[in-house]
Amino acid sequence: MTLKNRTIIVTGASRGIGRAIAETLIQEGATVIGIARDFSTWDEPPRQLIPLQLDLTRLDELPKQIKKLARQHPDINGIIFNAGEGRFGSLEEFSPQQIRHLIDLNLTSQILLARELVPNMKRQPQGDLIFIGSEAALSGSRKGALYCATKFALRGLAQSLREECSNSGIRSTIINPGMVKTGFFDTLAFEPGEAEENYILPQDVADAVFTVLSARPGTCFDEINLSPLKRVIKFK
Ligand SMILES: NC(=O)c1ccc[n+]([C@@H]2O[C@H](COP(=O)([O-])OP(=O)(O)OC[C@H]3O[C@@H](n4cnc5c(N)ncnc54)[C@H](OP(=O)(O)O)[C@@H]3O)[C@@H](O)[C@H]2O)c1
Repeated sequence: MTLKNRTIIVTGASRGIGRAIAETLIQEGATVIGIARDFSTWDEPPRQLIPLQLDLTRLDELPKQIKKLARQHPDINGIIFNAGEGRFGSLEEFSPQQIRHLIDLNLTSQILLARELVPNMKRQPQGDLIFIGSEAALSGSRKGALYCATKFALRGLAQSLREECSNSGIRSTIINPGMVKTGFFDTLAFEPGEAEENYILPQDVADAVFTVLSARPGTCFDEINLSPLKRVIKFK
């Protein structure tokens, strides 16, 4: 029970990577405040999961809702910024609304969450901010302009908070996975190859999150890059 005294927010806790992270943290003794739009995916949610049904793209309402959450849970000492979508295509294929939607979800909602919660976290003895970036945060790619832009920016946020918050005992980390086998690809024209070495599992990312959280408080993992052993993309 390494995470017994931890209360940690996990965004996108209903499915995929966020769900695996939430399950792992609960198993290690943490209380998890999950954020997503639909928790019907959890058949029997454990009592250590506090589900908060929120649409993170409703930016006008978000600060008020997060302020309320911070008042209800003044002991929050970790945030896993995970919720996000992938959209790929040439830039001109996206409407201005689609561009705004992806930036709102993948970036601005995370910035607003951090803005509301970091001041409280600075008053705790320890805290962790863990961003789920992507290999798209590390290099640009064909048809990746919009998605890469959101993930590069997230990496800048993680690195800056790393410098800004360390004097308050808060660590900031970004984890950059390559292709993870989740529903992320359901709406995309491609997916990882079928062989086991063509994808990462959500649990692999959850294990990396646990490694970061269980490190000695004086040590910070700045960045972790994970990728499938063999990169094989299958077009549908
Ligand atoms: N899969 C990959 O290959 C891969 C690789 C690198 C990085 N990532 C990153 O990992 C993160 C999680 O991806 P995943 O693969 O786990 O995708 P996923 O299976 O599609 O899960 C996405 C999660 O985000 C939540 N979400 C989406 N829109 C939301 C909204 N408007 N408000 C609140 N929550 C919302 C979803 O919950 P609801 O639908 O219930 O709201 C769901 O829990 C993303 O940031 C993604 O960019 C994924």
